Amino acid sequence: MDRPPAPAFAAPPGLRRIEDLPGPRGLPLIGKLVGNLFQLRQANVHQGVERWCREFGPLFAFRIARQRIVVLADHELIGAVLRDRPDGWRRSSRLQQVGLEMGLTPGLFGAEGEAWRRQRRMVMGGLDPRRVRAYFPALWRVSGRLQRRWRRAAREGRSLDLGAELMRYTVDTVAGLAFGTDINTLESEGVVIQQHLDRIFPALYRRAMSPLPYWRWFKLPADRALDRSVTEVKQAIAGFVAEARARLRGDSSRRQHPPNLLEAMIVAAEEGGGIDDTQVSANVLTLLLAGEDTTAHTLAWLLHLLHRHPQALAQACDEVRRVVVDPCAVTPEQLVELEFIEACLHETMRLKPVAPFMVLEALRETSLGDLHVPPGTLLWCVMRHDSLQARHFERPLEFDPARWLAEVSAGNARRVTMPFGGGPRTCPGRYLAFTEMKMALAMLLASFEVESVEVPGGGEAEERMSFTMVPVGLRMRLRERKLRAAGAARPAEQR
Ligand code: HEM
Repeated sequence: MDRPPAPAFAAPPGLRRIEDLPGPRGLPLIGKLVGNLFQLRQANVHQGVERWCREFGPLFAFRIARQRIVVLADHELIGAVLRDRPDGWRRSSRLQQVGLEMGLTPGLFGAEGEAWRRQRRMVMGGLDPRRVRAYFPALWRVSGRLQRRWRRAAREGRSLDLGAELMRYTVDTVAGLAFGTDINTLESEGVVIQQHLDRIFPALYRRAMSPLPYWRWFKLPADRALDRSVTEVKQAIAGFVAEARARLRGDSSRRQHPPNLLEAMIVAAEEGGGIDDTQVSANVLTLLLAGEDTTAHTLAWLLHLLHRHPQALAQACDEVRRVVVDPCAVTPEQLVELEFIEACLHETMRLKPVAPFMVLEALRETSLGDLHVPPGTLLWCVMRHDSLQARHFERPLEFDPARWLAEVSAGNARRVTMPFGGGPRTCPGRYLAFTEMKMALAMLLASFEVESVEVPGGGEAEERMSFTMVPVGLRMRLRERKLRAAGAARPAEQR
């Protein structure tokens, strides 16, 4: 946050200036110099800003050193900002700069303008619902591996590190779908790619939020470990790309109809389709990063909430056990029937959105309600504030999946929550994410009884920002389900 303040643009009559917005006072003595820096903690910065929203309302500003940051918590205005991309607003340039310093070329998430438009079309095509449905057999294989892994833990009476388990599942899924590579971290021992990826996301976040870019002058052991992880991940990606090129060389029909996103990108790069080799690799990394934590931590939050709400857990189990025939071969039609499970996912993302805020930057002079916004203004969009307001949701702090089952209220609720963002940059992985999450839940609830999903000391898991909002320290304990009558969901290998 070491950028100079936005240049002074005079506010047209009738509009407020950013300097006129309310906001938290800085600390005595040092406040003039550092602004509100020491009033926020990186690990729960989202909660600090949400607290200020309750005090100052949905539009205010705070300051980090010389940089003023406008905070917006009104979902309608946020929706308008998200729709005004890529021309009116961009992602924070600070994030892009930090990524480049780490050796990461921007993929779809970090790209802007024309480069973004070209990549967006390709990535959307690769994650299209038809492609995801064609990929179901591979998803079943990954579910089967997860089932075997968890069955071993249940038999040995071991508790599972929930976040790490689910990230293996999501990495294997994305790599299979988008790159045609079966990396199988679920059945690998030792250091797997997912452990290197786990260093990159938190480091991006830590550096993007750090007031002092110390790594430009010296490196701490954590920074050196990060460099090693970036190198390892790049090598792994080069391997995926080389394998995909070999497949394309070996079978010319793949060029006509590339079966996955990576092969489609390679063909486009070779045919001068406005995408080059570095962008191909950048998008492999983007999809691994964007598809891993988000989906895994949403699932972890949901399992934790279900464990804390036994009635909802029982209803979810009933639904799965009524609908699903084979826990490791859940069909697209069965997934559609899992309406209560889907409602549980929406309710989880309302209460525990893994992206509780987004930082954007104005590309041109504009306004937000009655506020004049000069180009270069940094905007902190608070995604959860309206989701927890009684004027939008009855008993807003309660976990109540049923609220998503009534069509009218669900339609309104969707407009308020926006867990996948909105506008032209809305998450392209949404359909895949729902498919993966429902499939994992179906396998879990059909094959096991959930004994506990909790933190060691009990109580609700703490929220920690680490690019995504992570539940800290969740462990899960499972018991294998007893066999039931024919036709009911049964572990595949017992039939
Ligand atoms: C529960 C799971 C997920 C959540 C909550 C989530 C959330 C988000 C959010 C909030 C954004 C920013 C959207 C915006 O700027 O308006 C985003 C962007 C993105 N997501 Fe997801 N995501 C999830 C899963 C996935 C998956 C599985 C993939 C792909 C494998 C993926 C790939 C991407 C990409 C590439 C972008 C950048 C899009 C762009 O800038 O055009 N996400 N996601």
